[in-house]
Parts: sequence; structure tokens; C-alpha cells
Amino acid sequence: MTAQALPPGVVGIHALPADHHDGPWDSMVVPDGTKERLLSQAMLVLRHGHRLTALSGAPHGLIVLVGPPGTGKTTLAQGLAQASALALAPHGATTFVEVDPHAFPSDLLGESQRAVARLFTDTLPELAARRPHTVVLVDEIEALAVRRSTASFETNPVDVHRATDAVLMGLDSLRARCPHVVLVATTNFLAAVDEAVLSRADLVLRTELPDEAAIAAILRSSLEELAEHWPELRPLATDTELHAKVAGRCSKFDGRRVRKLVLSALAGRPEVALQPAQLRAEDLLAAAEAGQAELP
Ligand SMILES: Nc1ncnc2c1ncn2[C@@H]1O[C@H](COP(=O)(O)OP(=O)(O)O)[C@@H](O)[C@H]1O
Ligand SMILES: [Mg+2]
Repeated sequence: MTAQALPPGVVGIHALPADHHDGPWDSMVVPDGTKERLLSQAMLVLRHGHRLTALSGAPHGLIVLVGPPGTGKTTLAQGLAQASALALAPHGATTFVEVDPHAFPSDLLGESQRAVARLFTDTLPELAARRPHTVVLVDEIEALAVRRSTASFETNPVDVHRATDAVLMGLDSLRARCPHVVLVATTNFLAAVDEAVLSRADLVLRTELPDEAAIAAILRSSLEELAEHWPELRPLATDTELHAKVAGRCSKFDGRRVRKLVLSALAGRPEVALQPAQLRAEDLLAAAEAGQAELP
């Protein structure tokens, strides 16, 4: 599907599993059990959502990932779509729909509320009818579902109410019509997301800044990726002592900053930029220092 053909607010529609979606899930460094919990929650609803509607406490199919920017929420959600598609492949394919709240038309005359309503009542049910499983990512949902009790009165409060109501009504109508659809919402600000939206979540998972051990693991994974292209870098990728030493200089780094550190190290000297195989431990240590100095 070309970009023009996508419905308002939708920025991607993918058929999964697909090989080129494999990377993210494995590359994420998260506490033990996190991926299993996410995957189980998604599989339960994707596979048995229809039957579970008979329960008094039926699921909403909503998973919320919350945490500071750069802690892997978007990547985890994308990885989850592929991981659950792989696990359920024997029962049929999965459609992965990416929604970007910032891609809705601007708020003129309630245009965006109507677009949100259409997304939930027309677009998503139509997409969900195509394949047995459907995962929807609503990235940075706070842009849609602003907490009404604290919404600033500078942003037109009536519009805020309308947009949030559209999301709530949309979630409920989607659940009623498509109880087997999993919707993963991410947010940088839990406090900004409406209580009524949160109370519908089957699982709220917090992503945290990585600790030293996690930072070392992310460094290792980034260096291993580099070593696939420049095998001379294999010794750096396996030097756990070095990873720990660099990680020691990365306190308060989020995962994105750790990945960027490796890129900055490659761009630290013209010789290395030209020939990444020449990357040395000192380049990584220097990049960590520089990254530390950039922290807010
Ligand atoms: N815990 C983590 N383990 C591995 N990589 C991470 C982790 N957290 C963030 N990253 C990397 O940082 C980058 C940004 O992550 P992203 O998913 O966009 O974060 P968010 O959506 O929370 O802002 C990605 O390249 C991701 O792989
Ligand atoms: Mg994100």
C-alpha cells in the first residue's frame, strides 16, 4: 500500500510474520519475564478473544507501554507484533497496523475527532477482517487521549474532551466488534493519559532506564551488529570487561543514547568513519564521556 492510500492516522500496514521484521524483539534488553508476559497477553487475546468475551471481566485487548523516551517502547511494540505473529503463524497470518496520532488532520472543526472515530469504527474493523490476527500500535497515545482532569485550558478544553471521548468510544466499539484485536498503546507520560483509557488496559508495562548491566548488554548487541559487517570488530563485541567499563560511564543513559554512543564512536575520528574496522576501545570510552556531557 502506498502512503497516499493509507487511511488518516495510519502510517503503516504490514503482513506478519515477515523476515525483515525479525530484529527488534531479540535486540531488546529487558528484565527477565517481560517479553514472556507481553507475548502471552497478546497471544491470549489474539487467539481466544472471541471466547473470552463471555467472561464477566473480559479483556479489552489493550496493552499500555509507559516509560521515559528512548527506553524501547516503540521497538518492543513492533517486536511484539512480529513475535506473536510467529507464534500464531500455524493458525494464520497477522496484520500489523501502525497508528501515529500526530498524523491525524489538525483539529479544525472537530476534523480530528471524526478521523479518530472513523479509525476505530471503520478502518480497524475492516483491516481486522482481512486476516485471523490483528495487532494495532497506537504510538504516543497521549496525543489522542489527554487526561481530561488536567488538560490545559489553553488547548481548547472542548476539543480535548471530544478527542478523548472519541478514543474511549472507539476502544469500546472495537472491543465489541473485534474482541480478538490487540491494541498496544505507548506513552511517555502516564500522567497525561486519561484514567478511563488506563482502566481499560489488560496490562500496563513500565519501561525503565537501563541499569549498568543492561547498558553493557545493549553495547554488546550494538557491537555484535557492527561485527556482522566488519568482522575485525568481533574482539570488541566479545570484550565484556570493556562493555562494563563503558557502561560505568553511561549512568542515566536511555537505551537510544546507548545505541547512539556506538554510532558516535564510529564518527569520532575520520579514519574510523572511513574504516569502521579501526574502531578501538578508547573511541567507545570517549564517546561515553561525550554522551555524558550532553545529558540534560
Ligand atoms: N532496553 C533496550 N534494549 C535494547 N535497545 C534499546 C532499549 N531501549 C531502547 N533501545 C534502543 O533505542 C532506540 C529507541 O527506542 P524506541 O523504541 O524508539 O524508544 P521509545 O519508543 O521508548 O522512545 C531503538 O533503537 C532501541 O533499539
Ligand atoms: Mg517511541
